[in-house]
Amino acid sequence: MSQASIGIFDSGVGGLTVARALIDQLPNESILYVADTARQPYGPKTIAQVRAYALEVMDHLVEHDVKMLVIACNTASAAVLRDARERYDVPVVEVIQPAVRRAVRATRNGRVGVIATRATIESMAYHDAFAAAPDVLLTGVAAHRLVEFAERGETMSDELIEVVRDYLKPVLADGCDTLILGCTHYPLLAGPIAYVAGDDVTLVSSADETAKDVYRILHDRGLAATSGTPRHRFRTTGDTGLFERLGRRFLGPEIETVEFAALGD
Ligand code: SIN
Repeated sequence: MSQASIGIFDSGVGGLTVARALIDQLPNESILYVADTARQPYGPKTIAQVRAYALEVMDHLVEHDVKMLVIACNTASAAVLRDARERYDVPVVEVIQPAVRRAVRATRNGRVGVIATRATIESMAYHDAFAAAPDVLLTGVAAHRLVEFAERGETMSDELIEVVRDYLKPVLADGCDTLILGCTHYPLLAGPIAYVAGDDVTLVSSADETAKDVYRILHDRGLAATSGTPRHRFRTTGDTGLFERLGRRFLGPEIETVEFAALGD
């Protein structure tokens, strides 16, 4: 079992930020990554729709004998975490709690902003997660257009800066000193977000913190791979060529080929 892959998924390229952190922190582990690009973006969909898509992708990963599931998508984490933990025998890790833990430690003035997709904000998953830190004031902004920019690999343009400026207005007006990138696509846009937010705002991404959770669970449950050559596999429900090009740019040479995953209609 310890040589089995870690199953990880997202609606698209965003989860590669988590995959990168896993590969860096756990270099012996193999990963099987599924990008549900045919049905992205998840953000504007209903929670019920996202839940159905996410369960289908996770069923696919479990059929391929993964030893753990990582929901590398905030919208899916908000929609499906409880169901997933009941449905599967393997451990399930998500991205919201790790980011919240980090933000609580990072904030100096107790004002934290979170930008995320509309579905994530409306689910109140971040507000619920911050309930354990009642001294923190949270400003949540639905910033779903940023997913489109990340998915087309657009990281530097005047239009993008204007869109970011617009989304960050309430966060900056509320004096937030810490900003959670509450969608795994957003670290791919950390440049423009940091440019607009300024040096006084600490950006928190869930990727590194999530990888720490994965490390802890693998170690504590005796599931860690300690030797052997890792094998990383990447699948998409959409255009394999497009995902390969964009994925290689964001993740690196670990993406050799991309297979088609036949899911959905
Ligand atoms: C999206 O597909 O809209 C982004 C998903 C996410 O990471 O929240």
